Amino acid sequence: ADTRFKLNTGAEIPALGLGTWQSEAGLVKKAVSYALSIGYRHIDAAYCYGNEDEVGEGLKEAFASGIKREDVFVTTKLWCTYHSRVEQNLDMSLKSLGLDYVDLYLMHWPVAMNPNGNHEKFPKHPDGSRDLVPEWKHTETWKLMEKLLATGKVKAIGVANYSVRYLEQLLPTATIIPAVNQIENHPSLPQQEIVDYCKAKGIHITAYSPLGSTGSPMFKEKAIVEVAEKRGITPASVLLSYHLARGSSVLAKSTNPERIKANMDLVKLDTSDMKILDDYAEGLTKSGKVVRYVYPAFGVDFGFPDKS
Ligand code: A2P
Repeated sequence: ADTRFKLNTGAEIPALGLGTWQSEAGLVKKAVSYALSIGYRHIDAAYCYGNEDEVGEGLKEAFASGIKREDVFVTTKLWCTYHSRVEQNLDMSLKSLGLDYVDLYLMHWPVAMNPNGNHEKFPKHPDGSRDLVPEWKHTETWKLMEKLLATGKVKAIGVANYSVRYLEQLLPTATIIPAVNQIENHPSLPQQEIVDYCKAKGIHITAYSPLGSTGSPMFKEKAIVEVAEKRGITPASVLLSYHLARGSSVLAKSTNPERIKANMDLVKLDTSDMKILDDYAEGLTKSGKVVRYVYPAFGVDFGFPDKS
């Protein structure tokens, strides 16, 4: 659980982070302060999650108990309706979180949404499709994010949900290489192409929804169960440890104290464990049966090659 990975900024990111997407109001403050009290040192937040105030309360409680700000890695994310107003959205997040800087600021998605749309966070056209601003380039958003580094309000900047297609547009125009690309990633969605691409470019991968989001059908998959039994650990531990073995950090969302604690049990999977998981993942990729839990809900083609 103490594993850390080096970012291209020189800073270290703890391998395990507490996710706060869909963390229930009334529970997330305690989840954050409890996680930090038992040794988590990485908290992942976002403006869009609508709970940064409570995440901030949890951080405050942890700091009051003696945990130092500089020992905690905090990430938050720029929302799609703020692509042209980057620093404004960052300031909103910092205020909610009660922080004067974050360790990592990510562009949440590579698409801009109508800032004056009919809904605050998810503006829609009358037909229900996303009210995007196609003429706004994500490369422009990145330029605004690069400017944040000089303000001291962010220690590092990165992206999320970037496929190779988007990174190939971004990198030639970028002065700063993103430190991180945060993507949906699990053995049912191995994302090998973007994982390999980022490795070659020095961009660290953080995996979200490692358990397959709600319901966790992966817990019952033969390959996962096989590795769990082989190693005498739970399927959840296999799914989280998978990323460690790939050199990626992983976000485990839970508001349940027992599961928050259990999710710290990461193990070093060996090559025979990884072969079982990689064969499983490759089989799904080849047969076009990868499973995306999050991307379809967005209703935008982000250019990931795996078919679901
Ligand atoms: P809860 O917060 O009640 O623990 P993902 O990270 O893939 O998005 O999955 C998060 C979901 O998995 C949440 O519903 C969370 O619920 C649940 N969860 C988190 N940790 C575990 C675990 N160790 N075992 C089973 N379910 C878990």
